[in-house]
Amino acid sequence: MTATCPNPIQPPVRTLMGPGPSDVAPSVLAALAAPTVGHLDPYFLQIMDEVQTMLRQVFQTENQMTMAISGTGSAGMETCVVNLIEPGDKAIICQNGVFGGRMADVAERVGADVTKLERPFGEVFSTEEIAAAVDQHKPEVVGIVHAETSTGALQPLEEISKVVHDAGALLLVDCVTSLGGLPVEIDRLNIDAAYSGTQKCLSCPPGLSPVTFSPQALAAMDARKQKVSSWYLDIGMLRNYWGADRAYHHTAPINMNYGLHQALRLVLAEGLEARFARHRLHHEALRAGLQAMGIAYSVANSDHSLPMLNSVLIPDGVDDAAVRKQLLNDFGIEIGGGLGPMKGKTWRIGLMGEAAKKSNVILFLGALEQCLGAQGKNAEPGAGVAAANKRYLE
Ligand SMILES: Cc1ncc(COP(=O)(O)O)c(C=O)c1O
Repeated sequence: MTATCPNPIQPPVRTLMGPGPSDVAPSVLAALAAPTVGHLDPYFLQIMDEVQTMLRQVFQTENQMTMAISGTGSAGMETCVVNLIEPGDKAIICQNGVFGGRMADVAERVGADVTKLERPFGEVFSTEEIAAAVDQHKPEVVGIVHAETSTGALQPLEEISKVVHDAGALLLVDCVTSLGGLPVEIDRLNIDAAYSGTQKCLSCPPGLSPVTFSPQALAAMDARKQKVSSWYLDIGMLRNYWGADRAYHHTAPINMNYGLHQALRLVLAEGLEARFARHRLHHEALRAGLQAMGIAYSVANSDHSLPMLNSVLIPDGVDDAAVRKQLLNDFGIEIGGGLGPMKGKTWRIGLMGEAAKKSNVILFLGALEQCLGAQGKNAEPGAGVAAANKRYLE
């Protein structure tokens, strides 16, 4: 075999306006490149403590058991499900998009007796239907997605949390896309377990999954009759590594934690309220621009539209793939196509973390106008940019 050695990596610089990963701040990239130390080095243990302290602030919780799972958002999902649910336990999983479906799949794989509560893509669940389902099935756990990235729908949680707890169940919430861009008020909303990802509104590359567990969730884990089926994701053991014992469990991805540390510092330096307001402002400007170009959102009720993930209907007669290719090749802009039943029907335009900024909104609207023109869909020249600017000038 001839020895070959590829060129060193030299990635193109993109504007990441898809469903994640989002643009990463240079200081986060610099933190990733800092010298690696040992995973039990006193310096790294301090970084772990600080990551936990900052995650508690971003999750708005006092939960002691708040940490970053080594793995992407799906690893956080598996961690929550595998630790909270024992074979035979009843779980209601709410499915109104791809990620609710994934949670149900994971719960079935751990042997749960899963009831799938389904809503069409783009819709959200009402308190009444969840109340009726918990009344009928008496589950140990109810799982739901806060920000459904596949549809752009925002699920209100406050009332649902009440009915779930009144029925004596635990509430598990997917906050992969909401954390850092929308309030995720773990303690105020009485959420028992939640997981997120680094690559969305935290604007860190993918690789870690922040999780948090309430004392009630930990008590349920302590009362388990059977061992957690995943060794790697067993919170009982991870607690001993991230907690005071510092018992070796696995070799933590040191540099990813450096990156998350810096990303969380940026979130807290900006301030949570300011960060949420920034996501909202740029969403409103983008929405105004898209609407002026005749493009509609796929979530009919704007109160349930995510600010950080704008899911819009592809205009009739427009070639989905051709537009996304032109955006990437001519402008360096990445947006997402539709997932599952939305494939070929929607575009998913992310304004997450670092990417939620004026220059991205204006660039995207101008670029989209050109791409639609190439498809023979000429909008009124400059209408999108003008409408976005009007919102910015208000
Ligand atoms: C809502 C939601 N949940 C879970 C995931 C899975 O996360 P990951 O792809 O980081 O494993 C994603 C990823 O896009 C997501 O958007």
